[in-house]
Amino acid sequence: MMSQEVRKVRLFAGARRNIRAVILHSTLTTILWALQFVYQYYALIPGELGGSMLRSFALTGATLIGFALAIGPLRTLHQKYNYVRYRRTIGVWGFTFIILHFVSVMVFLFELNPIDLFWHYNPFANPIIFAVFAYPIFVSMWITSTDWAVARLGFRKWKSLHRLVFPAYIVAILHFTLINPELLLNPTGYLLIGTTILVLILQVSAFLKTIRGKGLGRSAAIGFSLMIVGASLFTTAYRFRDAVAGDVEPNPNLPTSVAVTKMKEFMKQKGGNPEVAGAPIEADKNFVAAMMKTGMFERLNYMTSGAVMLENKDGKHFVVFGDDFTTPNGPDLVIYLTKNTGPSTRQDVRDGIQLAPLKSTTGKQVYEIPEGVDVSQFNSVTIHCRAFNVPWSYAPLK
Ligand code: HEM
Repeated sequence: MMSQEVRKVRLFAGARRNIRAVILHSTLTTILWALQFVYQYYALIPGELGGSMLRSFALTGATLIGFALAIGPLRTLHQKYNYVRYRRTIGVWGFTFIILHFVSVMVFLFELNPIDLFWHYNPFANPIIFAVFAYPIFVSMWITSTDWAVARLGFRKWKSLHRLVFPAYIVAILHFTLINPELLLNPTGYLLIGTTILVLILQVSAFLKTIRGKGLGRSAAIGFSLMIVGASLFTTAYRFRDAVAGDVEPNPNLPTSVAVTKMKEFMKQKGGNPEVAGAPIEADKNFVAAMMKTGMFERLNYMTSGAVMLENKDGKHFVVFGDDFTTPNGPDLVIYLTKNTGPSTRQDVRDGIQLAPLKSTTGKQVYEIPEGVDVSQFNSVTIHCRAFNVPWSYAPLK
């Protein structure tokens, strides 16, 4: 039964007390998210709504959780920097954005299939496993962030629950630094990395100051253990990650952004397909036909360049790469005739016509289009990495 006192505490009593600060910080956090979204959508991954949403939610959420975690130690170290009354609003917004990050990852990347999250059980190969530990803790903090929850749980229980934020934060850092490190090399990533480093320094310094004052006890033992486990995980993370990178078998069911990272790691370890020639194809050198359409290859995931033509000869149609064609070698690259006019997606490849595996990484080469295909329906040529299900390069035809 709920006691009278607990019932008396209104759900959002804390927020009501600080309503001005809550409104101010809610506005600032929303502006921070809007800026992050605009930067992703217009500069980093132009036009990709799903990717921009899930990354802007992730980066804003993780940065805000960092801000909230910096407030406590800052006060311990310098009494005059006391922003504790703002901590809850900032933390709650941080957790809210992380919940939105999870929802958008499920909608845009995993098509609502939770089984796919566990495509590899080694967290160094699949850093989503780290997130799976952190996420339920952050959600419980979010749910219990009201005065009502403090009264309902009792302060001691509530405090113990909220201390779990530290191990959760450590595994969350492993999640976002390992999942796609290239995506962090821009101002939004630097803000997150800078905040995270600051939080770690402040937390450790405040912890050491506290034990100097209070002496060693159970909390100190837990704190030291956490620091040792965290430090060992970080120092070994990249070594483990590189060690398992080559073990990751090509998997066409990974979400695109994860598949691109895995494809690049796989290439670093194993290179491309040894059966693909590295010189122009002799047999195709003297091929001559009438040109119908032409285009230039554009980069999607790897630098590919050169001309491509749609040609016909004796009632048959052909895709012909120009003498200037060049691409790096990759795993299982296959040529498709596709209908899209903009950059090719997986769906465009599914809707396209598969022609043949790439013959050579350079120079002129000819691919016959099967008879009966209405070529007027097709507007581009796509090179697709079939092993990872990642569109590699495309050329719009005109
Ligand atoms: C079960 C819950 C979660 C899942 C399934 C998940 C999944 C993902 C995936 C698939 C990506 C890669 C997105 C891409 O490449 O476009 C990602 C990135 C990211 N996640 Fe999560 N995540 C979860 C929880 C968290 C948590 C708890 C945090 C931090 C507090 C977090 C922070 C981030 C950040 C900052 C990035 C961007 C990293 C970068 O840009 O390199 N995620 N997450």
